[in-house]
Amino acid sequence: MKTNALSKMGQRTTEPPISWLTHAALSRPKLISLAAGFTDNASLPVAEARTALNQVLRSPKTGQPALQYGITAGDTTLRQLTARHLQKLDWGGTPCRRPKNQGRRHAVPPEIYSFERLLITSGSQQLLYMTTEALCNEGDIVLVEDPTYFVYLSILQSRGLRARAVRLERDGLNLAHLESVLQSLKRSGELRRVKMIYLVSYFQNPIGVTTRFEKKCGLLKLLKKFERAAGHPIYLLEDAAYRELSFSGRADLPVSQADQQVGPTSPPSALAVPGAADRVIYAGTFTKPFATGARVGYGVLPEPVFTAVKHIKGNHDFGTANLLQQLFVRALASGSYGRHVARLQKRYAHKARVMKLAIKKHFPPAVEWGEPEGGLYFWARLPHGLSSGMKSKVFSTALKNDVLYVPGEICYADDAARRKPNHEMRISFGNASEKNIREGIKRLGKVLRKFL
Ligand SMILES: Cc1ncc(COP(=O)(O)O)c(C=O)c1O
Repeated sequence: MKTNALSKMGQRTTEPPISWLTHAALSRPKLISLAAGFTDNASLPVAEARTALNQVLRSPKTGQPALQYGITAGDTTLRQLTARHLQKLDWGGTPCRRPKNQGRRHAVPPEIYSFERLLITSGSQQLLYMTTEALCNEGDIVLVEDPTYFVYLSILQSRGLRARAVRLERDGLNLAHLESVLQSLKRSGELRRVKMIYLVSYFQNPIGVTTRFEKKCGLLKLLKKFERAAGHPIYLLEDAAYRELSFSGRADLPVSQADQQVGPTSPPSALAVPGAADRVIYAGTFTKPFATGARVGYGVLPEPVFTAVKHIKGNHDFGTANLLQQLFVRALASGSYGRHVARLQKRYAHKARVMKLAIKKHFPPAVEWGEPEGGLYFWARLPHGLSSGMKSKVFSTALKNDVLYVPGEICYADDAARRKPNHEMRISFGNASEKNIREGIKRLGKVLRKFL
C-alpha cells in the first residue's frame, strides 16, 4: 500500500525532543542529566501529600467522591481556592479594588479572578495544548518569544501552525520588534492568521527573563491596535509555570508596587492589566511548585475561549484526576502548599548557587552565561561558530562523557526572518543532586575546553 491510515497530524507529528530527553535521562543510570525540567527529588513533599491524601481517604464520605469522576471544569472548591491563590499572587493579599491614591489604570474588577473563569487541567501543558487547539486552524500563526519553551514549539509543529519569533531582552519582549513583526504581517496580508502571542512571563524557560508589568501593558495595547486589521481578537497566552519559583521568596509583587519594580522580581500577571483581561489567557500550575507527579494545572480564560476549551477538555478527558484535585484542595486549604513553596524557593536558590560556583570554576571564559533569579535554568552561550546542537560534536562528546544538556537550537522557532542560533545551551539544576550538579558541570566544562 502506498499510504498509511494516519491523519495529516499523525503523519506530521515528529517525536518531541522532550520525550527523547526524558527517556535518555531515565534510561542511562550513569548519565547526569542537566536537561529535562524535572524538579528536585529530595524535596518532593511526600509527608505533605500523605497527610492530605489521608485526610481525603479517611472516610467513605470524603474518599468516595475523590475516587469518582468529577466535572469537566474541575472541582468547585479547588477552583475557588485557586482563584483566591492567584488573586493573592497578583494583589499581594489586598482586595483587588482600586487601591487608594492609585490611578485609573489599577482598577481591576474582582470578577477577573472569579472561579467561574477558571478551569482545572491536567498540568498547564494540557491548557497550552487545548487553548491552541481552540484558537488556531492549520496554517495560522502564533507569535512566540525567541527563544521559547521548546515543548510548545512541538505543539505548533504537530498542529501545522506557523510561528513568528519576537526578540527577547532582559526585561521581557522587545515591543518595538513585536510591532514591526505585526506590521510586516499586516503588509503581507497575513495578520488575519495571527491568533495569539505565547509568553512565558516569569523566569522564562529557557533563558530566565521575567517580563515587566509595563511591558505586559504595552504588549496588550499593541495587540489591540492590530486587531481591527486582523478582523478578530488577538490573545495573549501567558504561561506562568515558574512564577512561584522565585529565589527571593517574592512570588508576588502587589499591583500597587508594580510601577516601582526595578529588577526582574515577580510582577503581577497580565490579568491585572486594566481593561485587558478579555484578551488574556493565563496558564498556571501546581506541579513545578509542589509535585510534578501530581499533574494539576489551571487556566483563567475569557469567553468565548473558556467555553470552547472546556468543551474540548470534555472530549480529551472530561475532567482532571479527581483524587489529585482533592490533594491540592487539602494542601492549599491547610497552608501546607504555601509552606512547601517557601522551602522550595530556598532550596532552588541554593542549588542555583551551587551551579553558579561550578560554572565559574569549570567553564572556559569564552562561554557567556547569566545568573537566574528564579526558575530552574541557566542559559549559556558558546562563542559564535561553535555549535551546541543535537548533531554537533559538543553534544555528542557531552553524551559520551555522560552529561546531557538541552541544545539551545531546539528552543528557537522555525522563522525564516532570522537565522536560528545554534551555539547555546540550557542547563538545569532542578533535578540533579548537588553532587551531580558539580560533577555534571565539571564534565561539561571539560567537554567545552576541548573545543575552545
Ligand atoms: C514553560 C513551561 N510551561 C508549561 C510547562 C508544563 O508544566 P505542567 O504541565 O507540569 O504544569 C512546563 C514544563 O516544563 C514549562 O517549562
